[in-house]
Amino acid sequence: VPEIGCLSIIVLGASGDLAKKKTFPALFHLYCQGFLPPIEVHIFGYARTKISDDELRNRIRGYLVSERSASPSKDVSKFLQLIKYVSGSYDAAEGFQMLDKEISKHETSKNSLEGSSRRLFYLALPPSVYPSVCRMIRRYCMNKSNLSGWTRIVVEKPFGRDLGSAEELSSQIGELFDEPQIYRIDHYLGKELVQNLLVLRFANRFFLPLWNRDNIDNVQIVFREDFGTEGRGGYFDEYGIIRDIIQNHLLQVLCLVAMEKPVSLKPERIRDEKVKVLQSVLPIKDEEVVLGQYEGYRDDPTVPDHSNTPTFATVILRIHNERWEGVPFILKAGKALNSRKAEIRVQFKDVPGDIFKCKKQGRNEFVIRLQPSEAMYMKLMVKQPGLEMSTVQSELDLSYRQRYQGVTIPEAYERLILDTIRGDQQHFVRRDELKAAWEIFTPLLHRIDNGEMKPIPYQAGSRGPAEADELLEKAGYVQTHGY
Ligand code: BG6
Repeated sequence: VPEIGCLSIIVLGASGDLAKKKTFPALFHLYCQGFLPPIEVHIFGYARTKISDDELRNRIRGYLVSERSASPSKDVSKFLQLIKYVSGSYDAAEGFQMLDKEISKHETSKNSLEGSSRRLFYLALPPSVYPSVCRMIRRYCMNKSNLSGWTRIVVEKPFGRDLGSAEELSSQIGELFDEPQIYRIDHYLGKELVQNLLVLRFANRFFLPLWNRDNIDNVQIVFREDFGTEGRGGYFDEYGIIRDIIQNHLLQVLCLVAMEKPVSLKPERIRDEKVKVLQSVLPIKDEEVVLGQYEGYRDDPTVPDHSNTPTFATVILRIHNERWEGVPFILKAGKALNSRKAEIRVQFKDVPGDIFKCKKQGRNEFVIRLQPSEAMYMKLMVKQPGLEMSTVQSELDLSYRQRYQGVTIPEAYERLILDTIRGDQQHFVRRDELKAAWEIFTPLLHRIDNGEMKPIPYQAGSRGPAEADELLEKAGYVQTHGY
């Protein structure tokens, strides 16, 4: 249990989807594991809807218990009792003054540590209200001064629509809070196998000499979902797959795959290296992009009839540095495809002077499956067992479920919220990182927004447009079989 003193966690947008499905369940799991001791921690929900504490609790209750945490109902009830609700608007003083009063009441209660005040504001809200909400927090709800106290804010993506709007948002928030107080969440950075990348790359002699353009032919970072935008069409249509998945989740993964070794594990040193990767990405070429939109997407009544928004994209990024020159990083993401999967595929070059003539059977490939069923496996050639001297492709397989039986892998949000409480910004996106990420995609996004590039229709439940597979092949990817 971390030393947390008196902590108030305020979830703004408490009655919304994100809060119900992610934020409160993550807090509940932290509570069950003893990370949120009830004497020191209070949780507040804030939103516009006028409901009572109990009504909010009832709305959340059903989302708390998942298959991974069959917590007894008494835990649920005890946790829910920690939550108080305050209603108010996102741009008027009154609600925030009331919120401050409620928080202060608990801070000055006999249980708090010398009135120490630590306030974590989680903005489970659309970005359009970030500036006004931050202004209100700054004006009315900051921690009541005390040396060990703090105020932190957590913001969700989408953080802007392009470079200009993101920078404007960053400046507005930056005038109110210092960078160490701002936690820009990208939940992919909380996934177990994403967090494992640093260890994998820099604690293993195996990989150190191989991880470069001399040995690696291409890298794929893939996100697939086997469902469409059901119920979220309106939101999704404004953003599209590049803003929803590629510019943030996949690009963050790319940084960890491609970055140089940081001089230490200090969050700032790690983020320095990620920024360098982003700044080394060359402008995207139109011919290295394939966009798609699944058939039926526009049937959603909240999606405009002539929407040009891609629900699928394959984009090749090229990193202009000594390690990666010439190696395509293929980022691919799609909704309504034939499977749900997120993985990194590092494909090695062919063996020079191949005496076995086994090239056609496939290449060495190292695969990191982020989800579902976390795993890492290496595809390699072995002798086909038996009397003949023939080769076959096989796998060295580390499946987490088998290897770490009984170990519960934490949800990304759970881990990241704990980091915000502990003040560790390693797994959060720094302002310059965000800017560099938008710089990469903004020209392409503007071309799509202006209708200069159009998505190719694909059948829902398919692999996406065939043109994407052709692009992959052109980039050098060799389809391997099995597994
Ligand atoms: C969110 C996107 O950030 O990530 C969603 O907005 C997407 O569109 C989701 O479905 C995927 O997250 P995960 O953790 O299920 O891969």
